Amino acid sequence: MAPVTEKTGAGEKITIPRHVAIIMDGNGRWAKRRGLPRTAGHAVGSENFRKIATYCKNIGMDYLTVYAFSTENWKRPADEVSAIMKLLKKYLDEAVATMERDKIRMKVFGNVKTLPEELRKLVAKTDEISARYEGFQANICLNYGGRDEIITAAKRYAADLLEGRAARELTEEVFSSYLYSAGIPDPELIIRTGGEQRISNFLLWQCAYSELYYTDTFWPDFGPAELDKAIAAYNARDRRFGGVK
Ligand code: IPE
Ligand code: IPE
Ligand code: MG
Repeated sequence: MAPVTEKTGAGEKITIPRHVAIIMDGNGRWAKRRGLPRTAGHAVGSENFRKIATYCKNIGMDYLTVYAFSTENWKRPADEVSAIMKLLKKYLDEAVATMERDKIRMKVFGNVKTLPEELRKLVAKTDEISARYEGFQANICLNYGGRDEIITAAKRYAADLLEGRAARELTEEVFSSYLYSAGIPDPELIIRTGGEQRISNFLLWQCAYSELYYTDTFWPDFGPAELDKAIAAYNARDRRFGGVK
C-alpha cells in the first residue's frame, strides 16, 4: 500500500508513515510528579496506548509498533514487574474481546516462551484472530530486546539451513524473514517519549534508516496532537538513504 497522503487545512500535503514505532517511556516519572505510585503511571500509560492505536488506525497508518516491556525490564522490583504483567494481561484480555469489532490486528514481538502461561495463551488467541482479516496492525513488544531478536533469528536460520529448509545465501531479505517483524516494512519513524535520547535495545535491525523523534512529554500525556507534531516533523526531514538529492 502506498503511504497515505492527507491535505491539511493550509493546503500542504502530509504523508502519514506506513509504520511508526514508539518507545513509550516516562510512566514512572509521570506518576511520581503526581505523588502516585509508579504503577499508576503504567495503568494510565496502557489506556493511552489504546487511544493512540485507534488514532493511528483512523489516520490511515498500516503498522504501529510499541515497546511495552523489554528484556532488561525484569531488573525492576518484583512488585512493579508483576503490576505491569497484570496490566498486559488485562489489555490483551480486552483486546481479544474487541479487536474484531475495532478491526485491529495484533502481534506480539518478543520471547513469549518465558512469559506466564495466561499471557502466552492470550498471545496465541490474538494471533489466531489476526490471521482472519487484513487492515491496521498493532505490534506489541513484550519481553522484547533487539539483540535477543537478532540472536533468535540467527539460531532459527542456522537450524533451517542444517535441515535444508533455508536459502544457502543469507541476504538481508532472508535474514529479515526470521525476525519477529517478518513481512512488515521497517518503521519510517521511531518516537521516544519521556525525554531520554537512546534506543534502549529497540528494533536494532529495523531502525537502520528510521527517522528518530524525541519528546520530553511523558507517555501518559502523549496524545493525538503530539503524534501529529511528530508526523509533521517527520514530513520536514530530508531522507537521503546515503544518496544525494
Ligand atoms: C515506560 O515507563 C514503561 C516501561 C518501561 C515498562 P517507565 O516505567 O520506564 O517510566 P520512567 O522512565 O521510569 O519514568
Ligand atoms: C525502554 O524504557 C523500554 C520500554 C519503554 C518498554 P526503559 O525505561 O526501560 O529504558 P531505559 O532503562 O531508560 O534505557
Ligand atoms: Mg523509563
